[in-house]
Parts: sequence; C-alpha cells; structure tokens
Amino acid sequence: MKLSDVRKKYLDFFEKKGHKIVPSASLLPENDPTTLFTGSGMQPMVQYLLGQAHPLGKRITNSQTCFRAQDIDEVGDNRHTTFFEMLGNWSLGDYFKEEQIGWIFEFLTKEIRLDPNKLFVTVFRGNESLGIPRDSESVELWKKAFAEVGIDAVDVDFSERDGMQSGRIFYFDETKNWWSRSGVPENMPVGEPGGPDSEMFWDFGEELKLHENSRFKDEQCHVNCDCGRFLEIGNNVFMQYKKTETGFEALPNKNVDFGGGLERITAAINNTPDIFLIDAFDQARKEIESIIGKKYNDNDDFKFNFRVILDHIRASVFLIADGVTPSNKDQGYFVRRLIRRAVRFGHKLEIQDFFCSQIAQSLIDAYKNNYPKLEKQTKIILDKLNEEEKKFLKTLSKGEREFEKIFSEHGKISGQDAFLLYATFGFPLELTEEMAQEKGQKIDKQIFSEEFGKHQNLSRAGSTEKFIGGLADHSTETVKLHTATHMLNQALRIVLGDHVFQRGSNITHQRLRFDFSHPDRLTDEQIKQVESIVNENIQKNLPVHFEILDLETAKQKGAIGVFDDKYAQLGGKIKVYFIGESFSKEVCGGPHVENTGELGRFKIQKEESVGSGVRRIKASLN
Ligand code: ALA
Repeated sequence: MKLSDVRKKYLDFFEKKGHKIVPSASLLPENDPTTLFTGSGMQPMVQYLLGQAHPLGKRITNSQTCFRAQDIDEVGDNRHTTFFEMLGNWSLGDYFKEEQIGWIFEFLTKEIRLDPNKLFVTVFRGNESLGIPRDSESVELWKKAFAEVGIDAVDVDFSERDGMQSGRIFYFDETKNWWSRSGVPENMPVGEPGGPDSEMFWDFGEELKLHENSRFKDEQCHVNCDCGRFLEIGNNVFMQYKKTETGFEALPNKNVDFGGGLERITAAINNTPDIFLIDAFDQARKEIESIIGKKYNDNDDFKFNFRVILDHIRASVFLIADGVTPSNKDQGYFVRRLIRRAVRFGHKLEIQDFFCSQIAQSLIDAYKNNYPKLEKQTKIILDKLNEEEKKFLKTLSKGEREFEKIFSEHGKISGQDAFLLYATFGFPLELTEEMAQEKGQKIDKQIFSEEFGKHQNLSRAGSTEKFIGGLADHSTETVKLHTATHMLNQALRIVLGDHVFQRGSNITHQRLRFDFSHPDRLTDEQIKQVESIVNENIQKNLPVHFEILDLETAKQKGAIGVFDDKYAQLGGKIKVYFIGESFSKEVCGGPHVENTGELGRFKIQKEESVGSGVRRIKASLN
C-alpha cells in the first residue's frame, strides 16, 4: 500500500466519523516564539486544546508535517527521520477514550487490515504523587477491542527483568505514557496542557531483534525497547490536564489528540521494518543508485548513507517550501545543516557531482499531489538547494587545500588545526578526521572540543528551541536550579574533561536545561557519576558566596564561564560565584542560594544532542 493511500484512507475514515479534514499547518509555527519548528500534530492545535472553539467544530482530522531537529543524529537506522507526517484526529471536548480506542482499532485492523496479533499497546500506570490515576478505563477498552477479534489481551506491569510476560497491554510510568510538548509532568511549564497516553506498537517479529552485539543483549525485549523489533505507530493522548503552580487541574474539556506516524503505519502494512523502503522514497532511492551505480541493499553502510540523504533532502524540500532559506541562524541554520550533511553523506558514497536537486525533484514528484505547494515552488526549492550545495562544495575544496597546506608545513594535523579548519572554513571535523586517517593519523578530538568551547562567538549551536539566556524568574525554585546548574557544569568537567563548556542555559522553576560542548552521548555510567558528584556536594552543605574580581584574578583563580556575561560585569570587574572553597568557581551575575544543603536531590531527566558537538541535559531537583 502506498503512503498516499494510507493517508487518504485515514482521513476518509475519520471524515465518516464526523471529522472535518484540515490541511497541514506550516512547519514554522505561527505566533509561538518558544519553538522553531512544528514538531507534532499538536503544535498548531494548542489553543483549541486549551479551550478556544475551533472554527470547524469539535472533531478535526489532518496529516500534519513535522520536523524534529533533535533527531538529526538519530537518522540512519531503519525508522528515524527528522521530517515526517503525523496523522491526527482530534476531539475538542467531544468524544473520549471509548470512541477513540474503538475507532483507531477499527481503522488499523479493519480499514487497513493490520493483523491484530501483531499489535501491542501501552497505558499509563498512574502516579499518586501527581494525583493522576492508573488508566484502567483504557485497559478495559483495549481488552474489549482485542476480544472482538478473538484475542485475549493480558495486561501486565512493565518489568525490565521480565520483558513481555506474554502480555499485550503494558503499564508504563510517565516517562513513556505521558504526553506534553515538554515531556514528563515535572518538565511542563505552568499553563501547559498534557495527559496520559496509550501508545500502539507493531511487532515485526523476533528475528529483528538487534541485541546480539549490543550492551542490552542480556535484557528481555519489550515494546518500548530500541532493538528494532517493535515500532511505535501511534499514540492516543487523553489531553485533559493543565499544569498549575502546585500540580495539575482539569482542562475545560477532555480532549483526544491522536498522533500516528504515517510512514511507520505504511511500513507496518507492507511489513517492511525499513521505512525508507516505502513508496515515497522509491524514485529518489533509485536516482542515488543510478548516480553511484550501486544498490541500496548492497551493504549496511550504503543504507545508512542513503537514509541520511533521503531524509535530509526531503526535510529540506518541505522546509524551503514553507519559507526557510539556508543561513546561519534560526530555522535557516537547520536547513543549511541538513543540506551540508546530505552532501557529506553523498561524498561518502563517492558522489562527485551536484546531486541534491536531482533527489529533491524525485521527492517533489512523489509528494506533489498531496502538497501542491511543492510543485508551485519547485524552482525556488531546487535553486536554494543548488546554491547551498555549491557553497558547501567550495568550502570543502578550500578546506581540503588548506588541510594539505598545513599538512605539508607541519607534517601533521593537530586538534587546533582541525578546529581552525572548522571555524575558518566551515570544514567539518569528520572530513578532517577522514583525510587525516588516509595519512595514517588521528585527530585529537579532546583538543578540538576545548578549542570549540573557548570560541565564544561561534554561530549558535543547533537546538529546537531558541536560547533564552538567564532565568525565567527569580523564584526560590529557579534560584535553586541555577545553583544546581553551576554544580552540574563542574561535575560534567570532572567526569568528562575540561573541554566541557557552557553553550547555553535556560532555567525555569521546574527544571534546568544546560547545553555544553562534548562530542559524544553520555553513557549511563557517566550520567550516574555526574548525578552523584552533584548530590554528594549538595549533602556537604557547601556555602555559596561571590567575589568581585578583575578579569586576570578571576582567570588565575580558575573561574570558568562566559567572561563577557553582561550580568556579571561591574565596571571592568566581574562577579564570580564560589560553591564551597573550590568545588565550583564561575563567572555569573547570580542570584544563588546561600548553601547547597537547600537544594534537595538532583536528578538528570534527559540527555540528548542538540547539534554537532553540543549536548543538552535537562535536570530537576526534588
Ligand atoms: N501529540 C502526540 C505525539 O506527538 C500524539 O505523540
């Protein structure tokens, strides 16, 4: 079945159930300064979920284009993409769990005939401290739906050790079965809507388990595990709460926000675990094959490179059509990055000539019936791709020349040289590494990261959200998290090394968000170490104080931080905050707590990439 058939069947199905079909909103959110891109179907619907009346009524259905910049580094496996379409059906204070579960099950198993034996679901296990109950109602509804097709759906609490336990319905906590734009309840800002959800998974079969060589190989596989066997195809969000200062209150309406991955559902119907094999990519994939004279299926490295090219060019096509131009800032930064990455992965496939616009044309052809704007803007899209590709190729050849020059002068390429190539010519570290490798050398990445951190004025790091410097407010909670941010910064330097520098920080009264230079994902072990260093120093009840120092003294004392921080500058001198005698010394305007004992327990909620060489941690205190 084709992608466009699935989209049409879904929209028709929900139209018959009384929904009005609305077109996809732009990938660039309107009137929402907090985020650069539409990352879920919910984004353009927030005001209606909060209670405003939708002009078309209480039942809406759509297929929303989405872009998730934070997934750039995940692309290459069988199922991650930065761009995707999210099928949505919305009850704005109309139907609720009973209709939603019944209809979506009917759609999946009757309308598009997915085998119910291969469907598994998860539900929210409840959380007393949040006052949100276990979702037994959804469990009963799922049981009823499965019973109608002769399946006895057993519900079990998820257990890491016991895996599937012959269950079909699994209870998970809020890290898996809660939806809001900002994730788990404690990360939600006041006023944000959210609710428990029930996710649906397709089982591609045990033979797909990829655990054999992984560090998880001794663990039991389950629906939410990353092994590739199960694919999440949809999420039923029961959007009924709003975050308050003290917890949650009911929204004016009980809403349903269903989000289904169009590409993933299509992959499930075709029983192909590789979503890059759905029809929408066919022509583009063949173009790449004919350019390089090799097949997608030839080997796994090829597949990886193909997937990055296919995903990144498709995302660029849609983003340019929605008005983005490649540049160094905001949304443009991401399109530039996507195109340059696509070119780089083309380079890995030994593509010599310009190729982006050729691939883009095939993708435009695949999508233009449903998205006429792509056809109307073909020329603009192809021109912008060409222009950016040309610029990047120039960068590459300049960088290559400079590389050779440095190499012939010094006989080697140091970490500093690699950074110079990057900062001056935009020459990617990976290419420097590749070229060095051809000469039998290894680049010192540690040095590269240090240089990167020192360089304050580099173009802004990538992120889905704009950096809003400083603190959201001066509430006690925010101030505590501010002090915790300094402690986190120091703990990261202890665990990972001195190349860690702050690249961005945003603190609300619920959580801290800290971006820092570091090339790799943190291991679970490193995360634990960082948490314990912070918690040990909290327990030591360290006093916090500041000193006003001149720049030289501050540097001599080993203070870290942004020395031109405008909040910390006081007539040529700067303010340095000390935690304990010497645990942390950081240039900062404050405010901070007086003693670390006030902080409570520190916990890292999330660690992710926000761009090359920059990681993000979200953490909270409780
Ligand atoms: N808003 C929900 C999601 O994106 C459906 O998963």
